[in-house]
Amino acid sequence: MRRVSNDYDADPGRWRSHDSGWLRADPFAPVAERITSLAARPVLDVGGGAGALGRALPEDWPVILVDNSPTQLRGAPAPKIRASAPALPVASSSVGAVAMLWLLYHLDDPEQAIAEARRALCDDGLFVAATASRTSDPELTDGYPPTTFDAEEAPRIVARVFDDVDVVSWDAPLTVLPDRAAVLAFCRSHFLPPEAADRVTPPVTLTKRGCFVYARKRAR
Ligand SMILES: C[S@@+](CC[C@H](N)C(=O)[O-])C[C@H]1O[C@@H](n2cnc3c(N)ncnc32)[C@H](O)[C@@H]1O
Repeated sequence: MRRVSNDYDADPGRWRSHDSGWLRADPFAPVAERITSLAARPVLDVGGGAGALGRALPEDWPVILVDNSPTQLRGAPAPKIRASAPALPVASSSVGAVAMLWLLYHLDDPEQAIAEARRALCDDGLFVAATASRTSDPELTDGYPPTTFDAEEAPRIVARVFDDVDVVSWDAPLTVLPDRAAVLAFCRSHFLPPEAADRVTPPVTLTKRGCFVYARKRAR
């Protein structure tokens, strides 16, 4: 399994070529709902990027964003900390939730970062990861290469660290690309070759597949 390239500083245009306006639903809303329903606070949003999870939460919900990319942090809301997921700069048992959304496939050893999330969580605290499936976007690709943390493996990897794991999968037409420019931009954002755009006639709706993996820190 290979980790997905971590190119946020070397090629910021790749990540920015993805437009959230293409999405039919806010993928952060269900995570925010789970966090608020459990009153899990503060939230450590690790690999938080531009802070989309914080925007889905109520305005006064305490969120600390952690990311290791100076480029990403420049556009992120405060409070924010530059740090790497396997070494979180917070005390043990100090936070109510740790989110690692579309992050762990960038790591060679996601389990190490998940264990670090567990360390940071208080008892009954909430862990949540999100990731895509190898079979997402079948309209554009016959399959993404396996990664260190794709939906096919993610639940098993989280279960090595947490006992109480709850998986919520999606398999639905969730992304609409209005024209060829959008299809090309989507391909770039997902490391697909530009020729993949020739497989579809826009407007095109993509079938998104992936999962959230929720877990609670119970005493072991
Ligand atoms: C695909 S983006 C997801 C951003 C955000 N979670 C979201 O869903 O919009 C992955 C983010 O993880 C960050 N990242 C990658 N490796 C990291 C690491 N080892 N520690 C902390 N952040 C990391 C990147 O800089 C980037 O902001």
